[in-house]
Amino acid sequence: MNIALLGCGGVGKAFIRLLQEKERQLMAQGLCISLKYVLSSKGGVYNPQGIDKADFLEFAASERNIFKYSIGGNPNLSFEDIISNKDVDMLVELTPTNKDTGEPGLSHITQALKNGINVVTGNKGPIMLAYKKLKDLAKENSVQLGIGCTTGGALPTINAGLMDLAGSEILSIEGVLNGTTNFIIQQMEEKAIDYQEALKTAQDLGIAETDPSYDIEGWDTAIKMLILVNVLMGEEKTLKDINVSGITGITRKDIINAKTKGRKLKLIGRTVKDGEKLDMYVTLEEIDPSHPLYGVDGKNKGVTYISDTLGDLTIIGGASGTKAAAASILRDIVNIDKGYKFV
Ligand SMILES: NC(=O)c1ccc[n+]([C@@H]2O[C@H](COP(=O)([O-])OP(=O)(O)OC[C@H]3O[C@@H](n4cnc5c(N)ncnc54)[C@H](OP(=O)(O)O)[C@@H]3O)[C@@H](O)[C@H]2O)c1
Repeated sequence: MNIALLGCGGVGKAFIRLLQEKERQLMAQGLCISLKYVLSSKGGVYNPQGIDKADFLEFAASERNIFKYSIGGNPNLSFEDIISNKDVDMLVELTPTNKDTGEPGLSHITQALKNGINVVTGNKGPIMLAYKKLKDLAKENSVQLGIGCTTGGALPTINAGLMDLAGSEILSIEGVLNGTTNFIIQQMEEKAIDYQEALKTAQDLGIAETDPSYDIEGWDTAIKMLILVNVLMGEEKTLKDINVSGITGITRKDIINAKTKGRKLKLIGRTVKDGEKLDMYVTLEEIDPSHPLYGVDGKNKGVTYISDTLGDLTIIGGASGTKAAAASILRDIVNIDKGYKFV
C-alpha cells in the first residue's frame, strides 16, 4: 500500500513512528506500507521509493521545515502533486480541524476520493460538515473513507456503531467524549482544588491546550457527538442543532454537592430520538453509580448506545494522546486493507 500523509504535527509524526514500529507485524499480516509523501503547510517530502521513516523522524525532531530534508524535501511540493503523480492508494489526512469551513482538509479529502484514493482521517472539520457528501463520493469512486480517529481516537465509537450495531436502529447516543474536561473534574474531586487550579494542572501536564476554550466550553464534545449522530443515525445535523454548555461555571460546591449524594459530575453529550425529533445537548450532569458512564474517570472516555434490537452497548477506555490517535488511523488502514467497507 502506498501512502501520502498530509500534516506532520503531533499525530502525523506519531503515525510515522507507528508505521516504523509496526513494520514487521504488518508485513507478517501481508500488509507492506510505503510512505511516499509527507506534507506540511510549507512543502514537504516526496520519495517514490518510500521515505526512510527512522531517518526522517530524526530530522523532523529538530527541524519544523520538513522541506529541508535532504532526500526528496521540496518547498514547492503540494497536494496537487499527489493527485497528478497518481502513485498512492491511501491518503492520511491530519491537517488541523477547522469547525467553520472544514478546510484545508475538506478539499484534500474531496479531491482524493474523486481521484480514486482511499482516505483515513482524524480531522473532524470535514466529517462534521460534509460526511454524507464525502461518503457518497467514496461510494461513487469505489474507495473507502475511514473516520474512526475523529470521535475519541482509540475508543472504537464509530466502528462499534457501524459494525456491532449493524441492522439495528440507534435510539440514543450518550458519551463522555472529552478527556480534558473529565480530567479537570476528577482533579477537582480528588485533590479538593478549584476549577482554575485544576485547569492549570491539566495545562502543565499538556492535557489541556494553552487556549482550552474548545474543550472546556463543550465544543469538542459537541463535534464528536455530531459526527456520531450523522454517521450512525444517518442524519445531516449541524452544530446549531445542539444545545452546548461546558464546564467553565463548575465550582467546588457543585463537586461536594454531587459527592454528598454519592454522584459524580460529568460533561455529557447526549442525543435521544423522540419520534421524528432528535434532542441533542452537551451539558454538565450529576450521574449516579447505576449510570453506565459513572466509572469513566480521568482522561478516559466512554459512549453508550441504546438500540431497538441489540439492546444497550457501553464502551469505555481507549488510550489517549497522539500515539493512540495514530493507532486509530492505522486500525482503519488495516481494516480497509482487509476489505472492510466503512461506506
Ligand atoms: N492530537 C490528538 O490527540 C488528536 C486526536 C484525534 C484527532 N486529532 C485531529 O488530528 C489532526 C491532526 O492533529 P495534530 O494534533 O497532529 O495537529 P498539529 O500538531 O497542529 O499538526 C497539524 C499539521 O498539519 C499541517 N498543515 C496545516 N495546513 C496544511 C496544509 N494545507 N497541507 C498540509 N499540511 C498542513 C501543519 O503544518 P505546519 O507545521 O507547517 O503548520 C502541521 O504539520 C487534527 O485535525 C486534530 O483535530 C488529533
